[in-house]
Amino acid sequence: MDPNEFDFESRIMSSSYEPEDQGNDNILRPHSLDEYIGQSKAKENLDILIRAAKLRGECLDHVLLYGPPGLGKTTLSAIIATEMGVNLRITSGPAIEKKGDLVALLTNLGEGDVLFIDEIHRMPRTIEEILYPAMEDFAVDFVIGNGPAARSIHLPLAKFTLIGATTRAGQLSTPLRDRFGVQMRLELYTPEELATIVNRSAGILDVPIDEDGALEIASRSRGTPRIANRLLKRVRDYAQVRGDGRIDLKIAQAALKMLEIDELGLDNTDRRMLETIIRFYNGGPVGLEALAATIGEEAITLEDVCEPYLLQIGFLARTLRGRMVTRMGYEHLGIPYTGGAETSAVPVEQIAMTEE
Ligand code: ADE
Repeated sequence: MDPNEFDFESRIMSSSYEPEDQGNDNILRPHSLDEYIGQSKAKENLDILIRAAKLRGECLDHVLLYGPPGLGKTTLSAIIATEMGVNLRITSGPAIEKKGDLVALLTNLGEGDVLFIDEIHRMPRTIEEILYPAMEDFAVDFVIGNGPAARSIHLPLAKFTLIGATTRAGQLSTPLRDRFGVQMRLELYTPEELATIVNRSAGILDVPIDEDGALEIASRSRGTPRIANRLLKRVRDYAQVRGDGRIDLKIAQAALKMLEIDELGLDNTDRRMLETIIRFYNGGPVGLEALAATIGEEAITLEDVCEPYLLQIGFLARTLRGRMVTRMGYEHLGIPYTGGAETSAVPVEQIAMTEE
């Protein structure tokens, strides 16, 4: 085998890759839309799309899935491929470093296959251009060689479905975003939906759990199945060592206390983010980069991982001048409120439009 080919395969493409898979959560993943809990709007839309495409014998339109991390974008794309009865190829924006990488991926697709590109907003713009004719006309055009020896190559592709996943739809270029016929936002899950997921996962892991125990884990999982499944595994460890292996409310509470996850699911980084804005910046506003430098975290972690939930529960406000902690955020930390976030906060949607 050509050693470069092997390197290419292992680096940018696999049928099971997923940075998020590192905890080997595969056994917990649902395999069909019926098994998939929550995201009822997206599920209903997908169900219709899949049935209609199958009835017409066509491949599915390109799909853009966006929303905070951990909500099941990869899982949904695997389900789409399974329900369509086609192969799934998985890669990610940052893994595609050269135009040739993407061309090789595209030319290897079979009829109807699904190509999933995670973090598609991180794909370099120069490479992204390859996708435009690929998505629209199922062909790639590229130039090989330089100067007078340069030759333009036109390669027809099999009809395929591109599923792009991103935590930031606003960072996608307009030409790319417009080429997705279907655009779906995944929402944070409710505690009840997460409790159903925790119960399902506990069944697969063969861990006895009662209703209150499941709901306790669920309500501290920040609306995110990946966190719920992670916490379930940690609580299971605790139950085995400190209890009789069963998870009930008391065991769940004790385990989560030891993990320093509070009643609302905030961890140390979330609390440090809020506390730093309050103590160092008088409650805000503060720019994301300055805040990240003060805390010693990456700005992208704060923005993608901590912020969506803190915004959702109303502890943080994004204003045109930066992030501010709200009165509720102060109260949760037990710090007397001094800031003015409520009066100067600008709705997030307005910010999103400005930043895009
Ligand atoms: N495990 C992780 N996410 C899930 C979901 N949405 N439904 C069922 N099981 C899951």
